[in-house]
Amino acid sequence: MNNQTIRKTSVWPVVVAGLFLVGFTVLFVSELLQLSGDESSLPPAGETLTAQTYQDVVDVLLVNADVERGAALVQRYGCVACHTGAGADNRLAPNWAGLPDRAAERHPPLSAEAYLYESIVYPRAVDIEGYTGTMPLIYGSQIPDDDLGSIIAYLMTYRGDSD
Ligand code: HEC
Repeated sequence: MNNQTIRKTSVWPVVVAGLFLVGFTVLFVSELLQLSGDESSLPPAGETLTAQTYQDVVDVLLVNADVERGAALVQRYGCVACHTGAGADNRLAPNWAGLPDRAAERHPPLSAEAYLYESIVYPRAVDIEGYTGTMPLIYGSQIPDDDLGSIIAYLMTYRGDSD
């Protein structure tokens, strides 16, 4: 009789603690999965990137790209304030003029499109002489894939400030 009472009172705390533990583990794991899911549209940062990783991402972005939309988007995201006209004249950023011709040479073996993608999403990846890393780092998370594709397509056709 006495034994039974002791067993009852000692088992319940263990069961309750066990349930809490299982609950927290499930929450934790689902949170982890969700986090890695959110980042899956970006390739891993840093040295693990290869020309092929970029190319695979960029090829997908360019499928539905629209040059006209890209032209409107660089206005909307404020890129033109630094990269064209007075901003570029005052060396806030390299002028985009001639970009389609030099993009393929900037970061070999990246293709021109892959380089443009890199310079928007990871602006610090390449040091451009005369500029000191002032391009905002927010675009990788701020610009949706659709928009990124159109911006890259637009930049590939960029000929000068009058465009
Ligand atoms: C505050 C000024 C600023 C803004 C806004 C800005 N950039 Fe830049 N950008 C720079 C600077 C400075 C560099 C040179 C690299 C560096 O210093 O980070 C650069 C580099 C680049 C390059 C590489 C140019 C080359 O000649 O190789 C591209 C492409 C580019 N930016 C695209 C964009 C796009 C697209 C946007 C808008 C979504 C944008 N930038 C917004 C300052 C800016």
